[in-house]
Amino acid sequence: MTLNHITILNYKNIKEAELDFSPNINCFVGSNGEGKTNVLDAIYFLSFTKSATNAIDSQNVRHGEEFFMVQGLYDLNGNTEEVSCGLKLHQKKQFKRNKKAYKKLAEHIGLLPLILVSPNDHELILGGSDERRRFMDIVISQYNPTYMNLLMRYNVALQQRNILLKQEEEPDVEIMTAYEEVMAQCGEPIYRMRNEFITEFIPVFQDYYSRISGDHEQVSLTYISHCQRGPLLEVIQRDRAKDRAVGYSLHGIHKDDLTMTLGDYPIKREGSQGQNKTYLISLKLAQFNFLKQTGSKTTPLLLLDDIFDKLDANRVEQIINLASDEAFGQIFITDTNRENLDRILERSQGDYKIFKVKDGVITE
Ligand SMILES: Nc1ncnc2c1ncn2[C@@H]1O[C@H](COP(=O)(O)OP(=O)(O)O)[C@@H](O)[C@H]1O
Ligand SMILES: [Mg+2]
Repeated sequence: MTLNHITILNYKNIKEAELDFSPNINCFVGSNGEGKTNVLDAIYFLSFTKSATNAIDSQNVRHGEEFFMVQGLYDLNGNTEEVSCGLKLHQKKQFKRNKKAYKKLAEHIGLLPLILVSPNDHELILGGSDERRRFMDIVISQYNPTYMNLLMRYNVALQQRNILLKQEEEPDVEIMTAYEEVMAQCGEPIYRMRNEFITEFIPVFQDYYSRISGDHEQVSLTYISHCQRGPLLEVIQRDRAKDRAVGYSLHGIHKDDLTMTLGDYPIKREGSQGQNKTYLISLKLAQFNFLKQTGSKTTPLLLLDDIFDKLDANRVEQIINLASDEAFGQIFITDTNRENLDRILERSQGDYKIFKVKDGVITE
């Protein structure tokens, strides 16, 4: 899939832009705060019907204006697709595919797959375990249609059990058991699906890491779950008294985590900023690989925001070489330093275009 052309009106600090893209590499260069991330965000919007950074649609309208509009022309497996989004202040947003408005926005998700690597992603390494579960959930649900349903049923039972645990009077054992049984029935297959996913994911991830770092460091990923302590129903029920004392369920797949290591130590504690970033980009590239093979019928777009930041020149060059390989399709990169990019792009094989971004104005 390629995004061949985009029209942007009043999106964040971009007043007006009409851009033709290279089918391979597209770079946006400019100083801090000029609008590079905003261009990527407009592209992100067309895939996900929302901004990656701002959950409130109206805040994406350029200050002092009444509306924004973003329109993209895509080549999707040989067909041209026109996707557009418009928002007038105080009105419902209009999201259209080939001039026809969607009834439900959810119908659009997945049509134009996209992976964004942004500085905000460091939460995946440094943040709480919920970030890592969400990462697994997003990837697995893209190729496994039963996964989300199991997870929803599990979460409902978990919430109901937690309500019982919090109440003043002693909980009814039969009702409690019924919730625990649903948690076990749904939790066990979720555990198996996460486990299968991680087992397949690890070698792909490690391969990317070693290619970017030049085989410098050993990294790994370990899946940790209470399911590894025995049948889930028993594990949940064993600590009922403790659960009651704290007022919530201490055991179950809602506590699953991924341990991320560099050498023998957690990367969270030991990793340098550049190593963290390499780790993150490798995770995302492996995710791209998974999405491409299992979840979608086309090659996703790859957006790399602030790619040079905190990485040495070798690593950046490896990433650009990797990303311009044909396994990846069209990529969009932002950077503050033009010289870095010029040097690397001249050496890479792919076709590329460089855009200058200054105060919301984008020129080729
Ligand atoms: N709704 C908006 N209207 C006008 N300007 C905006 C809006 N939202 C964000 N901006 C501006 O966009 C700029 C940040 O752009 P960004 O793309 O993140 O910069 P960078 O080039 O560093 O990636 C800031 O100066 C901010 O004030
Ligand atoms: Mg930026």
